[in-house]
Amino acid sequence: MFVTALAEDAAQVQARLEAALAGRADLPLIHAMRYAVKGGKGLRGFLVLEGARMLGLAADRALPAAAAVEALHAYSLVHDDLPAMDDDDLRRGQPTVHVKWNEATAILAGDALQALAFELLTDPVLGPAEVRVALLAGLAQASGAEGMVLGQALDMAAADAAVPLTLAQITALQAGKTGALFRWAAEAGAVIAGADPAPLRAYATALGLAFQIADDILDETGDAGKAGKRLHKDAAAGKATFVSLLGLDGARARAKVLVDEAEAALQPYGAAADTLRHCARFVIAREM
Ligand code: IPE
Ligand code: IPE
Ligand code: MG
Ligand code: MG
Ligand code: MG
Repeated sequence: MFVTALAEDAAQVQARLEAALAGRADLPLIHAMRYAVKGGKGLRGFLVLEGARMLGLAADRALPAAAAVEALHAYSLVHDDLPAMDDDDLRRGQPTVHVKWNEATAILAGDALQALAFELLTDPVLGPAEVRVALLAGLAQASGAEGMVLGQALDMAAADAAVPLTLAQITALQAGKTGALFRWAAEAGAVIAGADPAPLRAYATALGLAFQIADDILDETGDAGKAGKRLHKDAAAGKATFVSLLGLDGARARAKVLVDEAEAALQPYGAAADTLRHCARFVIAREM
């Protein structure tokens, strides 16, 4: 079962993050960091580990990279939920960090999780210095003002825009907001293995967009209890999304085409990529 494999990998990544945060000071900052890395699906970490396995590496060789992308993602969620951004009080079925502690702690825990992500990428387990520098540079690009943060900035601007974004603009926004981290995660195994990352990049580009369309569909039609977060936020904020632009059926159809594209990109790997194919189907079928 794909969900079992995903949960097993998420537990491994969680353990690596707990090890990284063990023995630290008894401070709200540290408690908030531990809290923020718990309870996610672990999709990005899974992509790192499965990409490595598919290319013949032991998953342990990629574990710090999987932990790094989950730490970076957790930081992005802590900040995304802040009052100045989406102002959310629920995440992964629990109070958000700024609700449980306070805004200053949430800002600082996010900052420190981001730094932790880069620190994890210096782990010699990942390979020689050239490999680690490639991973570091790639994650810096994927997460910063040309990647995730750019997408978040465009997303914030879209809420205030007088004219709704076009489909091309939304696609570009999402390629940063969610796509960039998915792409880095899917390619990381190839970088560690010294293999050509191009097919995995094509897979992740389609997968990331399908994931975001599913997130938009969930925001419109999902069950908040299962999703573990507040829904109906996009329409309330007046944001153009794949659903507002394509309609629900159109968005579902587009997500399905993207999953087919993602699966097709894996063709060079044959049956070794079956778990990644399952992952693509899971991404649009998920209820959380
Ligand atoms: C949620 O990501 C935020 C988006 C990028 C849309 P996930 O759905 O992967 O969140 P977790 O990590 O499983 O909680
Ligand atoms: C969050 O996007 C994306 C990042 C944190 C980079 P959303 O704001 O759409 O995600 P949810 O719906 O809060 O999970
Ligand atoms: Mg947001
Ligand atoms: Mg949000
Ligand atoms: Mg959303």
